Amino acid sequence: RQVTFDYSKAGSFISEEEIGYMKKLTLDAKETLVSKTGAGNDFLGWIDLPVDYDKEEFARIKAAAKKIQSDSDVLLVIGIGGSYLGARAAIEFLSHSFYNVLDKSVRKTPEIYFCGNSISSTYLKHLMDVVGDRDFSINMISKSGTTTEPAIAFRVFKEKLEAKYGKKGAAERIYATTDKAKGSLKHLSDEEGYETFVVPDDVGGRFSVLTAVGLLPIAVSGADIDKLMEGAASGRKRALENDFEENDALQYAALRNILLRKGKSVEILANYEPAVHYVSEWWKQLFGESEGKDNKGLFPASVDLTTDLHSMGQFIQDGSRVMFETVINIDTPREELTIGEEPVDLDGLNYLAGKTVDFVNKSAMNGTILAHTDGQVPNFMVTVPEVNEFYLGELFYFFEFACGVSGYLLGVNPFNQPGVESYKKNMFALLGKPGYEAQREELLKRL
Ligand code: PA5
Repeated sequence: RQVTFDYSKAGSFISEEEIGYMKKLTLDAKETLVSKTGAGNDFLGWIDLPVDYDKEEFARIKAAAKKIQSDSDVLLVIGIGGSYLGARAAIEFLSHSFYNVLDKSVRKTPEIYFCGNSISSTYLKHLMDVVGDRDFSINMISKSGTTTEPAIAFRVFKEKLEAKYGKKGAAERIYATTDKAKGSLKHLSDEEGYETFVVPDDVGGRFSVLTAVGLLPIAVSGADIDKLMEGAASGRKRALENDFEENDALQYAALRNILLRKGKSVEILANYEPAVHYVSEWWKQLFGESEGKDNKGLFPASVDLTTDLHSMGQFIQDGSRVMFETVINIDTPREELTIGEEPVDLDGLNYLAGKTVDFVNKSAMNGTILAHTDGQVPNFMVTVPEVNEFYLGELFYFFEFACGVSGYLLGVNPFNQPGVESYKKNMFALLGKPGYEAQREELLKRL
């Protein structure tokens, strides 16, 4: 079994001729990617990561995770964007749905909370309430080491940590994941003696889940990071070696670009398992930041189903016909539950007695796919055989490779993010950061 891509339900929207034409372009785009001759080619370290990673650092990640598990009730993971979403996606996908509130005797690993992904004082204060007087550690993640959101959260929780354990004791509980040499987080870490992990120069934030950025928090949650890398290596082998006809990542890249060229400008990633929610958030960053530039790109959106069938379902079925849908189907659920029979069928559900809840979920999924297809929303399906580290690794690599190829098909540099800077410049000017005086005057006039 493996992670697979299926476009059979979208057949009426896409002809074999179109696929044949796009196949040629897709193979060219793949060649540009793997020969490292395209734009952004200094950010392709992620391609070989699953088979070529720093084994010494990998062992240190496992050792640090063990130490955090043994001396902390809580781990705070501080980071934003690519320094946040991969770890959260993996932990929520792989862990118990109520991981943080499970009794510690059952969970056996620290509670894990994410912060530094907004600038909300309320969130930070409330998180302090949750940590309380308990033992905690911090994993501060920032490739640049200068991003405002995590830097503020770090200052707040570093103060709390130092007040509790003293400067030296706190330093033993701070793990910094950042550039190997530059940035203020690296300098601070060297100064204070924090253990550091590296975000490789040639791996951009949104492609960094399989570096220490994702691996340390994921390991702390108790997940098996060896299996995650093995799954990614399997995804890599298939993406690099399989012919187009057996290459799911290439087919996905090709087909989404066919639909884009036919006027479908929104791709909705749909899931039927709450644990997949943050995989969708990770996917949105991956594709949104990689493709949304030069006034081009598919807008990546996501829905959690069946929840959102009772909110966004109306729009998808019947609103502007601008979208297609990619369903992430978890083939075998982690847990099974059978619906019982009641002596008096007051709720009218006895026709489902003896059936599993997942049978109902899958019936909802299949019914929805047909309904949306009838409503002119082409449907693709990505099937994950079951929830484990191996298949998550395959899934991450499948999307990353498809994204690189798709970006080149679109004719953009998939590995930069120039647009992210605009809000930062305005924010710094409004905050009165030295060096931004002229912009500040201009902006104040406009507010
Ligand atoms: O993908 C990206 O490059 C961004 O989302 C970054 O990961 C995000 O802005 C955080 O940057 P940094 O890790 O430098 O704090």
